[in-house]
Amino acid sequence: MRATYRDRIRHAVLESRITTPERAASLFRNAMTVGMSGFTKAGDCKALPDALARRALEDGLKLNIMTGASLGNESDGMMALAGLVERRSPFQADPRLRQEINAGRVMFTDQHLSETVEQLRAGNLPPVDIAIVEAIAIREDGSIVPSTSVGNTASFVQQARQIIVELNLAMPLALEGLHDIYIPGDRPSREPIPLTTVSQRIGTSAIKVDPDRIAAIVLTDSVDSPSNNLPPDEQTQAIAGHVVEFLSGEVAAGRMTPALMPLQAGIGTIANAVLHGLVESSFNGMTMYSEVLQDSTFELLDSGQLTFASASSITLSEATYRKFLDNVDRYRSRLVLRPQEISNHPEIVRRLGIIAINTALELDIYGNVNSTHVNGTHMMNGIGGSGDFARNAHLSIFVTKSTAKNGAISSIVPMVTHVDHTEHDVDIVATEWGLADLRGLAPRERAARIIDRCVHPDYRDMLWDYYRRACAAGGHTPHLLSEAFAWHQRFSNSGSMQERVVQTA
Ligand code: COA
Repeated sequence: MRATYRDRIRHAVLESRITTPERAASLFRNAMTVGMSGFTKAGDCKALPDALARRALEDGLKLNIMTGASLGNESDGMMALAGLVERRSPFQADPRLRQEINAGRVMFTDQHLSETVEQLRAGNLPPVDIAIVEAIAIREDGSIVPSTSVGNTASFVQQARQIIVELNLAMPLALEGLHDIYIPGDRPSREPIPLTTVSQRIGTSAIKVDPDRIAAIVLTDSVDSPSNNLPPDEQTQAIAGHVVEFLSGEVAAGRMTPALMPLQAGIGTIANAVLHGLVESSFNGMTMYSEVLQDSTFELLDSGQLTFASASSITLSEATYRKFLDNVDRYRSRLVLRPQEISNHPEIVRRLGIIAINTALELDIYGNVNSTHVNGTHMMNGIGGSGDFARNAHLSIFVTKSTAKNGAISSIVPMVTHVDHTEHDVDIVATEWGLADLRGLAPRERAARIIDRCVHPDYRDMLWDYYRRACAAGGHTPHLLSEAFAWHQRFSNSGSMQERVVQTA
């Protein structure tokens, strides 16, 4: 039988704070900073975004909205179009909000996901006035049990003057016990984070809070929105094949066991497909230390190859989500959800020796990666956690299809138009054409290997030509500055990066 709100609110006084979304929305004042739960669509608030957007339409309310990462239910787009969102951080993935950001109407701060709450605690950012958090239960002592993500929720709750809890009746109480809440101490006398294995629990299973600060409780009854990852295709399968072959080589060379090192895989179709590729591999006893668990994690848990997965959120397709919610008990001993500050913490990423697999929008011949800005100007989603992992990983792998927009764009260009990950943070790149192992190589060697192994044949000669002429001009990292962005310019002018073939009679 489904748990009622009475099974979920176990604190004697708090039941009287149940109210409507509209009443809860009346607590907000213009220009407040709001910390909302939600991480890649998981565990986001379901009722307040709509109530707040209606206030924006009625009385022009504007807010500074911080989250864990992207929200589901198209809330980000809906709030932005209502004019509610003055500022937004640290990540988003909504086409309508993206449009508002790129039009300059929403000020978006694109942040490393492990850093937001560190900056909040340090006073580098305006403090959170109100936290709105989704929960499955409130315990006897008032502590809050989150749902399918932890994200930045614990630190928002710690800092906010007032807290609104969205108690979601659609989420099974079986999720209780999945979370491990740990907030690092103050700097500069902070102790090391005491986490030395992927499956270790170092905190509490709920977010401690003074119940007096819980100003309102709103009841909701809807599940998270599904991920919109596309299924693996021929190209993503080829990328996965190259990554699996490379990792097999590492095992054969004795640098890793068949359990590999703890895996991290970024958001999106391509990274999910690469992880899916491991299902057919001979690796066994693998673990994940990532920020988001996608369908591929559950395939690997089901196949028995993955023994444990740690993350900050669970974002799944509709079918896998249903299977997970109906079988939480089966998975619980092999899963933990942590604050994103911990799932992405540089100290732990370095300590555990993670294999980080993230996706590039474009990369250049030297291996600098742009994950965020189309044509150097237009925001796609944000850097997310890719920088947290890439810089500190044991192996930093970037994957991408070799072309985009039906071949009109080469994902490998002379020079990237925006740098999220410098060549120093990129060990391996892979496209459907092949994989370039860049470890220990100098820039000129990196370029030759990337062009040779990873570039689409339609662009390979063009890149060799650019690179050879650049080398003739000299330099440690040769470039022709007058041409470095000519490919992007050509795409803007003609709709394709390809040079026009002049037909002769
Ligand atoms: N120029 C312009 N557009 C490009 C492009 C390029 N060089 N390369 C890809 N795209 C477009 C694709 O055409 C596609 O557009 P569409 O949505 O209109 O079809 C879109 O970008 C997504 O690309 P896709 O090939 O489907 O890959 P993906 O779903 O795996 O997403 C990123 C790729 C880079 C957008 C995504 O991984 C991302 O936002 N990464 C940054 C955050 C991150 O890495 N987090 C990791 C820690 S969890």
